[in-house]
Amino acid sequence: MKFFLDTANIEDIKKYAAWGIVDGVTTNPSLIAKEGVDLKTRIMEITEVVDGPISTEVLATDLDGMLTEAREYAAWHKNIYIKLPTTENGLKALSILSKEGIKTNMTLVFNPGQALLVAKAGANLVSPFIGRLDDISEDGMNLIQEIVQIYENYNFDTEVLVASVRHPRHVIDSARIGADVCTMPGAILEKLLHHPLTDQGVEKFLADWEKVKDLQK
Ligand code: G3P
Repeated sequence: MKFFLDTANIEDIKKYAAWGIVDGVTTNPSLIAKEGVDLKTRIMEITEVVDGPISTEVLATDLDGMLTEAREYAAWHKNIYIKLPTTENGLKALSILSKEGIKTNMTLVFNPGQALLVAKAGANLVSPFIGRLDDISEDGMNLIQEIVQIYENYNFDTEVLVASVRHPRHVIDSARIGADVCTMPGAILEKLLHHPLTDQGVEKFLADWEKVKDLQK
C-alpha cells in the first residue's frame, strides 16, 4: 500500500518524508488556504521533498476553466496529478485530459457509481472520502470495498486512493481490503507508529542495561 501525506504543510512533509514511507502528497484548496501560501510556490517546494505524485486541485467549476488550470499545473512538474471534482464538468475534463496524458486524481467521490464512471474515463487515481461518509452515519469503508471489487472485476488501471481518513483503523482496514493508496495527515502516521508498550519496553531495556553497563569491556 502506498502512503500519501494529506497536507500542504512543508515542515510536516519534510518530517514524514524522512521516515522513508511517503510515496506522494495530496493537497486541496482548504489545505493550501490553511497554510496561507501561494499555490505554485508551495507545490514546487513539495516536489523538491517528495519524488512521487503531488495532487493539485483545480478551482474552476466550468469545463474550459478546469482544462486551462489543469494544463497550467501539469506543466509545472512531471509529478503533478490534477485533482478534479467528480462533477459533470470534472468528468468531461477528465476524458479530455487523460487523452492528453495528463495525470488525474478524481476527488469528492462518495458512491461506487462515481468511481465506475471516472475509471471508464481514464482516471489515474480515485479519491473516495470515507471520513465524510462516516460523519453522516454512512459506512465509508464499505465504499472502499465496493470500489476495489468493481475495479478488480474489470481490471481497471485506476488506483483507489482512500481519502478523508480520520484514524489509524481506517488505514488498517483499507490495507486489509487492498486499497492501493491511503492519504493521511501526519497525526495519523504518528498514531500508526507509536505504542506505549514500545516506549515502556525501550525504557525497561535501558534501565536494566544501566545496571551492567560498567561491566562491559
Ligand atoms: O484528501 C481529502 C481530504 O483532505 C479530506 O479530508 O478531513 O477534510 O474530510 P477531510
